[in-house]
Amino acid sequence: MIKDAGYFHINIDFLLPKYTFFPFSIHVYSLSAKSYSLFLKGNNPLDPPKRNELQKIIEEGGIVSISINQKKTFINFLGLNESDIFSQDEIEEKPSEFEIKREEKLKELRENQLNSEMNSNSNNTSVLSHQNDATVVNSSIQKDDFLPLIESIREEVLCFSLYISQSVSFAVGLADKAFNVDNCTNRITAVSYMMAKVMGMKSEQDLADIFLASQLHHIGFTQIEKSLSRKAYLDLNDQESKEYKNHPGLTQHLTRKLGLHVNDRIIKIILEHHEREDGCGFPSRKMGANLEPLSQVLGVVSMAFEYAEGKVTGVKKPINTVCSTISSGGTIPGLELNFNQTIYNNFISLMTLNIKDKVA
Ligand SMILES: [Fe+2]
Repeated sequence: MIKDAGYFHINIDFLLPKYTFFPFSIHVYSLSAKSYSLFLKGNNPLDPPKRNELQKIIEEGGIVSISINQKKTFINFLGLNESDIFSQDEIEEKPSEFEIKREEKLKELRENQLNSEMNSNSNNTSVLSHQNDATVVNSSIQKDDFLPLIESIREEVLCFSLYISQSVSFAVGLADKAFNVDNCTNRITAVSYMMAKVMGMKSEQDLADIFLASQLHHIGFTQIEKSLSRKAYLDLNDQESKEYKNHPGLTQHLTRKLGLHVNDRIIKIILEHHEREDGCGFPSRKMGANLEPLSQVLGVVSMAFEYAEGKVTGVKKPINTVCSTISSGGTIPGLELNFNQTIYNNFISLMTLNIKDKVA
């Protein structure tokens, strides 16, 4: 029953809807942060909006908790016996369906990694891994089918630890629910994720940051008129262009308003994904050294896929053709390559493997 000296955990069903006021305070335990926080002081209304908020916290892994000092108040008010209280042992003995599936995936991943290591004749696994990353991405480009890459990354993200940070846990939850179809946002997410890995950013926090920033970077468009967000960028008039350039800030505003678990770095990546090395970007005209490197990863990848989708000119192009154009170094409107050399080289290296092979 008792999680530690200070609290015990309960099922939300104990907080009967027929009562709005409870004489005890309600706390929540965060599995990711491994800490308790006060949700509602005693004798304050647990009204429908507050109940919905508590339900959402539970769905995200929070556990309703009561201070051990208020155990008698809790039991007496609800007319319970101590044995009626949902025990911590029960919680641990009954993992959720999500946790069960996640454990199965972790086991499968460990076995696959073991088999891969046993089958590899190479001692230089980092080089092998880098080549595999580029090969997998390039295969997706050649076939214009990114679903296998998306599914592969989804499996990887689902295996991230739930005890690193709230943003990593959010990435796991988002991958589980939304990262399973081949669309423009998921393509941008998948390739940005792979490019971050190729550039040596391989911690679960790094990868969760680029994953979440890529998934969320255009949710600000939901706050802009539909007709404008559907118009080709190069066809926007001055006023429309000004509104369009608000989308990074609108995305930041919306993530805060929705209470999404995104850290400051994720916000920085989102805000800077249209900033460029030479200071010609927007919304703040920041320059080189001040830019978060992952913002430029998202910047170059989103530029390529949005161009391919026709969002820039109104005309769709195969992503393979767009990569060839970028690789040739030619600058055309909407495909400006004002990124620093490291970003440019890594993008070319990742995206144009077969193109270079054919040239060679
Ligand atoms: Fe954008």
